Amino acid sequence: MSKVYLAFHSVTGNTEEIANLFAQYLQGADYETEVVPFGEADVDELVNSDKVALGCPACGTEELDEEFLEFFDEIKERLSGKKVALFGSFGWGDGEYQEEWETSAKDAGIDVYGAFSQLEGIDDEGEERLKEFAEGFAKA
Ligand SMILES: Cc1cc2nc3c(=O)[nH]c(=O)nc-3n(C[C@H](O)[C@H](O)[C@H](O)COP(=O)(O)O)c2cc1C
Repeated sequence: MSKVYLAFHSVTGNTEEIANLFAQYLQGADYETEVVPFGEADVDELVNSDKVALGCPACGTEELDEEFLEFFDEIKERLSGKKVALFGSFGWGDGEYQEEWETSAKDAGIDVYGAFSQLEGIDDEGEERLKEFAEGFAKA
């Protein structure tokens, strides 16, 4: 069975909820999943998984969390060529912090599937979008 490793950062639980739901949808598409706060991630296992999903909310001023960014910068070269989905929650605006993240991932050679963003906690509409996003990622 193919495996998706999902590593996330979350302060108030919104991105964690997306990570767990994302994993459920991937399991429904016959993937094995591992959902881990990024600080506890086994980097070798992460980079060797078939696909990877990375989650972080908007922090600072339209930025990734500083420690998560360090983690991402450390692993991104090792993810070159890998199919990776990005996700996270934001509080206002339109989740534009993900644009720079996606560009930096692509510049590192990562095969970015896309970025899923959700205003605060996930709602019914967000669940539908996430289901579609996960099903597309499963097939990609
Ligand atoms: C210190 C701080 C900075 C934030 N900066 C932004 C921001 O720049 N843009 C934004 O849309 N939301 C921002 N937010 C809102 C969070 O991204 C939002 O509440 C999100 O749902 C938190 O996700 P989490 O529950 O996974 O931690 C900020 C929140 C905090 C506490």
